[in-house]
Amino acid sequence: MQHDMTAWANRPIGIFDSGVGGLTVANAVVHSLPNEDIIYFGDTAHLPYGEKSAGAIQEYSERITRFLIDQGCKIILIACNSASAAAYDSLKETFQDTIPILNVIDPLVDEIARKEYREVGILATKATISSRIYDRKLAELSPTTRVISLSTPLLVPMIEEGFCNNNISEAIITNYIHNPMFDDIDAMMLCCTHYPLIRSEIERLFPRPIKVYDNSAAMADRLEALLRARNGLNTSGKKSRKFFVSDYTKSFEQTTRLFYGETVTLQLVDIH
Ligand code: DGL
Repeated sequence: MQHDMTAWANRPIGIFDSGVGGLTVANAVVHSLPNEDIIYFGDTAHLPYGEKSAGAIQEYSERITRFLIDQGCKIILIACNSASAAAYDSLKETFQDTIPILNVIDPLVDEIARKEYREVGILATKATISSRIYDRKLAELSPTTRVISLSTPLLVPMIEEGFCNNNISEAIITNYIHNPMFDDIDAMMLCCTHYPLIRSEIERLFPRPIKVYDNSAAMADRLEALLRARNGLNTSGKKSRKFFVSDYTKSFEQTTRLFYGETVTLQLVDIH
């Protein structure tokens, strides 16, 4: 039994998103758990998830989960809010006896609920906003917190195309966040894993100093707690990072390299 547990603990962590966004989660995981092996899947062929139906996102997420299980992963992180909103329940049902699965929404909701803010803003994809998942979960845990949500569909394609810290990103971000609906918020939640890549721009362009939260650190903390509780931390002493994509994109390779500061080889996989 002990032998089996060690074998499980030394397997890789599977992380997926529609594109580069989940790398913000992967980065937080590498930071807090540097001895873990990581297998990352960016479903670039189906990007953006935020514009897709819940049914389509469920189908992609299931195929990716099967792929990550075949790669020997010990746990799956859905490093995408749109996929967490649309597919977490169905994935949990399908794979509950096979592999633990974490969604990216609950850790952030728990963190925000503890703060008991009066009013919080949410920026996210259309899929996440229309699911109203943050509104419902926050209403359960912090009923006095008012939630002001805005879907910001131009941000993912903008980030995937590498438009950050320039006049184009500045114009788009300003247009979204200077909305009077956000005049009274106490904090802004970035509920898309792509958005940490423009977090500093959002902080700088918001009309006043504002506390900004994203999914990455809370997700890494949740993962660490779970692995510790199950004696699931990797003790093998060697680490590997593998990156799979369903379609090759230059921006994915560039962003991955930016994160890891080393040459990253993308492996193309057909998950159809
Ligand atoms: N990064 C994903 C999220 O957290 C979505 C990006 C997309 O629309 O593909 O929602």
